[in-house]
Amino acid sequence: MSNSSLRKPPKLQPGSPKDPVRFGHYYLLGLIARGGMAEVYRARLVQSPADGSEPRLLAIKVMRPELAKEARFVDMFHREGQLALMLKDNAIVETVELGNIDGRHFIAMEYIGGRDLTQILRRCQKSSLRIPVPHAVHVGVGIAKGLDFAHNLVGPDGRRLSLVNRDVSPSNVRIAYSGDVKLLDFGIAQALMKFTSEIGILKGKFSYMSPEQIRGMPVDQRTDIFSAGIIIHEMLTTEKLFRGDTEFALMERVRKADVDPPSKYNRRVSPELDRIVMKALARDVAERYANSAEMHADLKAVLDGYRFDVRELRDFMRKEFRREYTKDLQDSESARVSVPAGERLPTFDNTIEAVTAVTKNTAPIPGAPLPPPVAPSLGEGTDSQIAGLPDDMQIENSGSDAGTNNIAGQVLDEEKSGFWSRMFKKRK
Ligand SMILES: Nc1ncnc2c1ncn2[C@@H]1O[C@H](COP(=O)(O)OP(=O)(O)OP(=O)(O)O)[C@@H](O)[C@H]1O
Ligand SMILES: [Mg+2]
Repeated sequence: MSNSSLRKPPKLQPGSPKDPVRFGHYYLLGLIARGGMAEVYRARLVQSPADGSEPRLLAIKVMRPELAKEARFVDMFHREGQLALMLKDNAIVETVELGNIDGRHFIAMEYIGGRDLTQILRRCQKSSLRIPVPHAVHVGVGIAKGLDFAHNLVGPDGRRLSLVNRDVSPSNVRIAYSGDVKLLDFGIAQALMKFTSEIGILKGKFSYMSPEQIRGMPVDQRTDIFSAGIIIHEMLTTEKLFRGDTEFALMERVRKADVDPPSKYNRRVSPELDRIVMKALARDVAERYANSAEMHADLKAVLDGYRFDVRELRDFMRKEFRREYTKDLQDSESARVSVPAGERLPTFDNTIEAVTAVTKNTAPIPGAPLPPPVAPSLGEGTDSQIAGLPDDMQIENSGSDAGTNNIAGQVLDEEKSGFWSRMFKKRK
């Protein structure tokens, strides 16, 4: 065996909404996206809910094997991931499990059907579209609410944990097709940022850092407030706030934090909203919002002035991402009920006549599930239609597997009733 095959775990089969692939106690139902440090899959638990309710869709973020090779990373990931499990707030994506399956470290979360802000901003730029100001403020309120919850999280001993995200960026803010706002990657960001900076894939992150963070100075929760300020500024202007031709130039811009108020680019931004954004973006931490609760309260007051209804953002999302939304609905529906190909019962169509039959001496497939409702019978046929059917056996409730001409049927024998599938070919 070569060294590289020793090092690399086999590639994960991503599955698809209609073709689940087993991953430990989960089914993977297709790749959602490939991020810098991980791949994110749609998933659901193999075990269906005991109460018969619809299975919940999940998103599983599997760390890249390069990161998993680092024992220190794995250690930090699991330690910090424990914090993510404690973050139960409706503005933060819910983490349901942190684990390791066959050497793959993952985090399982609730699935949020929607788009992240990077995708939304890109679409707006492409279509010369503006995010309406009240929508942007609503998203800002959501971000501040999630931050406030996480920043004030207390541990089991009742002491504040002083959690800092460090990676509040548009790709980590997800807007659901319902209009809900969810922060992603909270809790694991520190481990991810540390190690991705070591392996040099921090690309794209500098644009959302605070001046103190980019200088490598100690940071506190106000670094997240600065990053939230950048995101709100960008939603209001549909422009990137910090850019640079080179990485160095970009970092210089962030260090200086010389920012114009958003109203300079968008006349609809009120002086009060300008003030809030500029306070979040103060270069000097002492001039910034001291905590996210204050920022949340100010944004909320502005939002209340608009009499904004979340259905407006819902409609905006569903309209601007109509194709993606429709596909997400279809995929989610399939993903809730699909079973792996090997366990699937044939689908029926009406192209052949059903045969009525009785069997003798023939055992049904052990453990085979009972048949699903069968396509309406088109009248009785005879077993002569079926090539290879033993003389002593007949089947009923048969149907043909669409496209393959295979026949499935139910054995009639009372003691041994069961389900046969794909055993016989229809005679031409
Ligand atoms: N719980 C979730 N439900 C639905 N989509 C999700 C979920 N978590 C992440 N995603 C989406 O998966 C994509 C990849 O996320 P990921 O965090 O791996 O990369 P990223 O945020 O683009 O970059 P980074 O590696 O810097 O975090 C993003 O579009 C993100 O919105
Ligand atoms: Mg992310």
